[in-house]
Amino acid sequence: MKKQLIALLFALVPVTAMAAGGAGVPLDEANIDLTDKASLQDGARTFTNYCMGCHSAQYQRYERVATDLGIPEDLMMDNLVFPDTLIGDHMKIGMRPTESKGWFGAAPPDLTMVARVRGTDWLYTYMRSFYEDPSRPLGWNNRVFPNVGMPHVLAELQGKPVVGCKAMPVREGNTIKRDSLTGDPVTDEQCDVLVVEEGTGTQTEEEYDTTVRNLVAFLAYSADPIKLERHRIGVYVLLYLAVLFVFAYLVKREYWKDVH
Ligand code: HEC
Repeated sequence: MKKQLIALLFALVPVTAMAAGGAGVPLDEANIDLTDKASLQDGARTFTNYCMGCHSAQYQRYERVATDLGIPEDLMMDNLVFPDTLIGDHMKIGMRPTESKGWFGAAPPDLTMVARVRGTDWLYTYMRSFYEDPSRPLGWNNRVFPNVGMPHVLAELQGKPVVGCKAMPVREGNTIKRDSLTGDPVTDEQCDVLVVEEGTGTQTEEEYDTTVRNLVAFLAYSADPIKLERHRIGVYVLLYLAVLFVFAYLVKREYWKDVH
């Protein structure tokens, strides 16, 4: 028994370790809503337009996505499916892993199951943690996934995030931290945040958070497409049980009527 307990504890360790960001960054809650079709549709659009240049979702078919998310087939074909691809095809891409490894230092993994592997809070925080870093080959780094090979592909939406301030020497042996944009003195905590440079993105912070939330919702759906179905069936099962309860109660009353 003791051995089993210890084994169980060890089995849980990676799960708790994954709950925090890769670099010990606290994760923000994604708060996704899998019953919100509009959110899932928006996420599907972002995914096919911004992610499928490099990542596939090859265990998922376009047709299934269209049906599950209530996207009419012609809209799906016009906006979400690559030319020369059929609606019944798996969501594969043309880029070969051997090539992409040379370009980015790591091959972009298939994302069908990534929400199960990383968790939705991790994904939500990851997509909001890119920042400009000239020392990296593509000019981007990430707080949650340090030295990631992926560039900030949603920068045109979010804008260009930079580390909030940098240390500026004022006197020999003494430094004061200043905001890199305004030059005002700031504390260490204020210094540690990412700020988006004004006028560099097309979305406000709130809009970008929503875009990412919807994208993460789509990835969560994609990792467990049956979940939507389960919830729908669950409602019917509960209704059925409720109705059955009424009849069972009436029958019970009928049977016991003469006993007392
Ligand atoms: C230009 C190519 C490119 C595009 C476009 C791209 N990625 Fe990536 N992505 C990569 C590469 C390369 C890696 C592997 C990084 C590494 O391991 O260092 C990666 C890794 C990831 C990971 C981490 C996977 C893991 O578990 O290790 C996630 C999550 C991810 N990408 C999500 C996305 C999403 C969501 C989009 C669309 C908004 C996207 N990517 C668009 C190149 C890309």
